[in-house]
Amino acid sequence: MRPFLLFVASLFLQLVGSSFGTCPPRPDQGVVSEEHKNSKLFYIDDENGNDSWSGTLASPNGNDDGPFKTFQGAVSGIRKQRDSTLEKATLFVRKGTYFLSTPVTLDSRDASLSIVGYPGDKRPLITGATKIPGAEFLPYDQTRYATFFNGICSKHVFLGENRLARARKPNLQSWTGRDLTGEGPYLTIKDLFVSTPDCNRQGSGGFSQSCPDQNKLGFVYEEGDIDENWQDPTTGEILVFQAWVAERGHIGHIGNSQVDFSEPLRYAIGSHPKPSGWRYVVENIFEELDAVGEYFCDERNGLFFIYPLEGALDTDDVFVGTLETFFRVRNTNDIRFSDLEFRHSHDGDFAGYNERPAILDFENTDGIRVDRCYFANVAYTAVYFLSCLNVNIFANNFLDIGYFAVSSDYRNDPNDPYANRNIFIRKNTFEGCGVSNMLQPACLHVRGVGNLHVSGNEISGTPYAGMRIGWQLTFSLDYIANEEYIFYIERNHVHDFGLGILSDFAGIYLSSNPDCGKANADLTVCYLHAYVSKNVVHAGESYNYGAIGVYGDTAVSRLTVERNWLYDLDEAAVNFHCGQQNVALNNMVYHVADTRVFGVCNSIVGEGQAVQQILTFKKNVVFVNNAEARLYRNSDFWEYDMPVLDENIYFFNSTDERQTNEFFPMGISFNEWQESSGNDINSYIIQPRFRNVKRQDFRLRCTSTAFELGIKSVDLRYIRSSSGICRKN
Ligand SMILES: *[C@@H]1O[C@H](CO)[C@@H](O)[C@H](O)[C@H]1NC(C)=O
Ligand SMILES: *[C@@H]1O[C@H](CO)[C@@H](O)[C@H](O)[C@H]1NC(C)=O
Repeated sequence: MRPFLLFVASLFLQLVGSSFGTCPPRPDQGVVSEEHKNSKLFYIDDENGNDSWSGTLASPNGNDDGPFKTFQGAVSGIRKQRDSTLEKATLFVRKGTYFLSTPVTLDSRDASLSIVGYPGDKRPLITGATKIPGAEFLPYDQTRYATFFNGICSKHVFLGENRLARARKPNLQSWTGRDLTGEGPYLTIKDLFVSTPDCNRQGSGGFSQSCPDQNKLGFVYEEGDIDENWQDPTTGEILVFQAWVAERGHIGHIGNSQVDFSEPLRYAIGSHPKPSGWRYVVENIFEELDAVGEYFCDERNGLFFIYPLEGALDTDDVFVGTLETFFRVRNTNDIRFSDLEFRHSHDGDFAGYNERPAILDFENTDGIRVDRCYFANVAYTAVYFLSCLNVNIFANNFLDIGYFAVSSDYRNDPNDPYANRNIFIRKNTFEGCGVSNMLQPACLHVRGVGNLHVSGNEISGTPYAGMRIGWQLTFSLDYIANEEYIFYIERNHVHDFGLGILSDFAGIYLSSNPDCGKANADLTVCYLHAYVSKNVVHAGESYNYGAIGVYGDTAVSRLTVERNWLYDLDEAAVNFHCGQQNVALNNMVYHVADTRVFGVCNSIVGEGQAVQQILTFKKNVVFVNNAEARLYRNSDFWEYDMPVLDENIYFFNSTDERQTNEFFPMGISFNEWQESSGNDINSYIIQPRFRNVKRQDFRLRCTSTAFELGIKSVDLRYIRSSSGICRKN
């Protein structure tokens, strides 16, 4: 027994790592040495190093040699000492805090370089912050503290590891340090600048209305919500909620119950009455610095104010995100970042659909590995790669991310030799994305042209989608072999997304380019080729509508959605918004929403005319636990081929006869549906016998009728317990 136990113990040590208990786990020294045994070894030590040394010693030898001190120094030192970039190099980073004030640039001279946290040391921190020591703050009044600050203000400021909120109105319910800026409570817009018969505040019952551009420039507020006595309202920004975005307007002027923005918003206020809820939040006004967790940075007067938890400044320092990009990697190959911690970036006051700035920013690079790293307190994107091949993003922990955690991007040209291929995003934990920028955020955005894998990740805590897949130029049907796909989305656990903040998204959100959704689109080039299987998607909550499980938007085609567990969502389990060759197969659905179970084409795309769709919904098990739910929505229809449904199990937990009589498309009963459409001839309405719904166990009992239809029981309990790299507890 003993040797076996020892063996198990050593395995365990390799996995959970050595003394320093932060997650991701650190492998022990032997494993790391093995990984880098064929490399030329260099060292960097922020505290004890010197850039004029050789960098080949882990510690100073007391005789004028030792590790490098700075990353810039290390990169140029390594360039001088390597005979060729064919010779691998490893730069071991000793423990400590590395403040970067300019980006480190890697190019072809730096090929085959790994930058690795030194094993045995605490994981080194690389930060882009300007630090204000807690001790520098002096009491400003009973609760607030102030100090001089000559740096650049940022909306990304952290006290210790906690994100501070810009002084806001209304205050957060209670600050946790992990809050999303899109969280309520909210103020309510009183009226529009310009009302028309088609665009008015009374439109509040509706989904959308057509509003003139003047409404991009401000709105009318309820007296008292915005204070005309604020000393300098122009420091302020207004976060305005629409349906699938929220965006900020800079205050130009306030008065007469009107707020004017200095620049127009992207979307006119009033365009989405119901999903917007007419919500807004005021940020960055000095007079609103009135709650724990808030700060106000006064760049004009060189002052910084904070309202901390009592005593927090005694133990913690303040970090103002200052640097946008930490490592800029271009035109090279085989670059690895491993066992490092990255924090405190800045967004350069940019908020758009661009996915830069990113902490690690790669372009035209073949061979990237980012593993066992910890990214937190990120202003915008953490890891971005444009036109890169052979990328491995493995076992990292991403927390508190301003926009995207990881974004894979290419230049819309599949013939570009660097168009993204062989991308593996595996076993990462993502917790809190879209924390600041809410232009359709997600933890992941993956675009590319071949062999892209997203697997084994855990994703939670976004105001919108869990992941966005595609949203790019799509392909012809024969672009790849019959049995192959371009995207493989497998074994991910996506949960607690949406959080009641935005609308119209999904845990796994796939899309083509918008042209595919238009009337008369050329549907022969709308194939994304995605395989979505064995994912667990649950606890999606929208503000108004559309926290979908798996969503193929804008006629995106050839999606296979197979053997997933989809439950506790506030909208459809699967939605194929038009498109062709889309298949939902053998999924386990526990449906609690009062809306459709399954979405198809409707007139909202295609400008009043649905585009063609060919889709199949087979061997799914659908347990409906909401009497208002229907299979489709009334507006879902088809003008061409009817969807093919068969060998499904449906069950209504409610005894409401309206549901039994109206559940099937166009409000008909099961028998009427079978007779009129020829669909679901071999389906049943019968209790499917999930193992234990209360415990979220959607395996089928042996006695389930589903087996008679060739439906397979799917056991995804292990996805919930083993996806990602770091468990919350
Ligand atoms: C770094 O090393 C050089 C050369 O030995 C020496 O002249 C210099 O003073 C050292 N710098 C520091 C900060 O110790
Ligand atoms: C079915 O409905 C009953 C009565 O509302 C409820 O108590 C029970 O939890 C439901 N079952 C499931 C599996 O949701």
